[in-house]
Amino acid sequence: MRPTQAPFPATRLRRLRKSEAIRSLVRENSLSPADFIWPVFVRDGEGVSEPIASMPGVHRLSVDLVVKAAQEAFALGIPCICLFPYTDPSLKTEDCAEAWNPENLSNRATRAIKAAVPDMLVMTDVALDPYNINGHDGFVENGEIVNDRTVEALVKQTLSQAEAGADIIGPSDMMDGRIAAMRTALESDGHTNVLILSYAAKYASGFYGPFRDAVGASGALKGDKKTYQMDPANSDEAMRLIERDLMQGADMVMVKPGMPYLDICRRAKDMFGAPTYAYQVSGEYSMIAGAADRGWLDHDKVMLESLMCFKRSGCDGVLTYFAPQAARLLNG
Ligand code: PBG
Repeated sequence: MRPTQAPFPATRLRRLRKSEAIRSLVRENSLSPADFIWPVFVRDGEGVSEPIASMPGVHRLSVDLVVKAAQEAFALGIPCICLFPYTDPSLKTEDCAEAWNPENLSNRATRAIKAAVPDMLVMTDVALDPYNINGHDGFVENGEIVNDRTVEALVKQTLSQAEAGADIIGPSDMMDGRIAAMRTALESDGHTNVLILSYAAKYASGFYGPFRDAVGASGALKGDKKTYQMDPANSDEAMRLIERDLMQGADMVMVKPGMPYLDICRRAKDMFGAPTYAYQVSGEYSMIAGAADRGWLDHDKVMLESLMCFKRSGCDGVLTYFAPQAARLLNG
C-alpha cells in the first residue's frame, strides 16, 4: 500500500497529531487487558510469594496465591493465565515422569484456578525442561535431544493437562511432529475443545535467561537448545514452522521472543492470518523493569509502548509478565 497525498503544504501530516482528540481518532491500533496472557510461576507451599532476583517485581507463588492472583487478573479483564511450575529438584528425573503426574504442581494449580475462576482461560506449558534432570525440553540420549520418544512423552503431558482442565495447551518444546500427535490424542480422548497455542517460531535466545532462573532450570541445563530452537538469523524457516503447525491442528501460533522478532510477527500475520501471539519473554521484561528500577527508563511509558508495538506488528495478543501492571494502568 502506498498512501496517496498532496504535496506540502496541502498535506501537513502534523494536522493529524495536533491534539489528543485527533490522535485518538486516527489511532490505528489499540491495547486493552483483553490482549494479555499472563505467565506466572507456581511453586509448592502455602502463602508463599518468593521474589525472583533476575525479574524485579515477579514472584513464584504457591497455588493458593496463584488462585488469588488469577481472580484479581480476571477482574482486571485479563482473559488468560499461563502456568509455569518451579519443580522441586528432587522430582526431576531422567524419565521426566513428574510431567504427566496428575498431581503435579501445574495440574493442581489448573484445577484450583478453574474451580475459583471458571471463566478464566488456563494455559499450560508442554515441554520436559521443568522435570528433566538434564534441563532440556526433550529426552537426552548420548548427548542428543531425541525427537520421537520425546513426542510420546509430550502427548502424555498434554493429556494430563487437558484432564486437569487446561483450556489452552502451549507446547514450547519445538520437537517435530508434536502438534499432530497432541491433536490426535486430544481428539481420541474426547478433549475436542481444547485449544493448542503452538510455540511455532521459537528461537534459541539469550533472552530466556531470567526464566530459567525462575523455573530453576539454569543450573540443570547442559549445553544449549540450538538443535531444536530456531537460529535467530532465520525468517523463512519461521514461516515453514508456522505453516506446518497450523496444518497439524494448532489453533493459534506464537512467535518467541517478542520485541526483537516483530518482523516475524508481521510476516506470520500477513501470510497466514491465524490468531498470532508474541511472547514478551523474561529477558525483555527484565531489561525494562531493571532499567526502570535504576531510573533510566520511565517504567509505565516504556511498558505500554512495548506492548502496543506487538499490536502494531500484527499480533492479536501478547504473553507478558507486565499483564496485571499494564491492565491496571489501561483501566485507569
Ligand atoms: C521452556 C520454556 C522457556 C520459556 C518458556 N518455556 C525457556 C527455554 O526455552 O529455555 C521462556 C520464557 C521466558 O523467557 O519468559 N520450555
